[in-house]
Amino acid sequence: MEVKVFDTSVEASQYAYDLIVQAKQNGAQVFGLATGSTPENLYQLLSESDLDFSQAISINLDEYFGLSPEHPQSYAYFMQEHLLQAKPFKKSYLPDGKAEDIDAELKRYDQVIAKHPIDLQLLGLGGNGHIGFNEPGTPFDSQTQFVKLTDSTIEANQRFFSEKEEVPRQALSMGIGTIMQAKQIILMAFGKGKAEAVKAMIQGPATEATPASVLQKHPNAKILLDREAAQLLES
Ligand code: GLP
Repeated sequence: MEVKVFDTSVEASQYAYDLIVQAKQNGAQVFGLATGSTPENLYQLLSESDLDFSQAISINLDEYFGLSPEHPQSYAYFMQEHLLQAKPFKKSYLPDGKAEDIDAELKRYDQVIAKHPIDLQLLGLGGNGHIGFNEPGTPFDSQTQFVKLTDSTIEANQRFFSEKEEVPRQALSMGIGTIMQAKQIILMAFGKGKAEAVKAMIQGPATEATPASVLQKHPNAKILLDREAAQLLES
């Protein structure tokens, strides 16, 4: 993994934007997308750009179980608001949070990814080191799965809901094995709340206890940090 530290998250987002432009120029067609506050700035840059995604495909990492695409806190809604309204893709995939047959939905999603191998995957980082919704302990070879969220994730995501009881307890998430198949990965992490997870991801052992540490094994992963997120790294 290659680690880059920027003075601000705005500069890191601009760098991520440039990497996307470059990947597109090199023929990337399938983009794995993430939600959360971390990529918001990048999505704004993409939305305001003259880049054309009308021939590209987007595949999102995850979705809350139980939320429909119309729910303002669903990741489907987030993607519409922050990127897809401004930049429609030829086809955009997300797991179906309302799926009645969960096993069939997990299989469908793996088939989507198998049919459209991901050229560039964007990732954020959970405060506990999760990527997508793959919580600590998730096997490194996992495929799309139904996950039970940890208390720390429920608490962290509570800020988007009016009360804790409303935060879904489960989600559907691309697995770690699936994420690792992406040709290129860009993980962004900002703010001091991510500093512990950043240190474990980069300088700890590659262990399932820190899902993001798997990126140490990826041949083309870039980690973009602001100073606060990088503050515990030892040089
Ligand atoms: C959520 C998402 C992740 C995201 C993480 C960090 O739980 N499932 O994909 O990376 O939280 O979110 P934020 O960027 O808001 O800190």
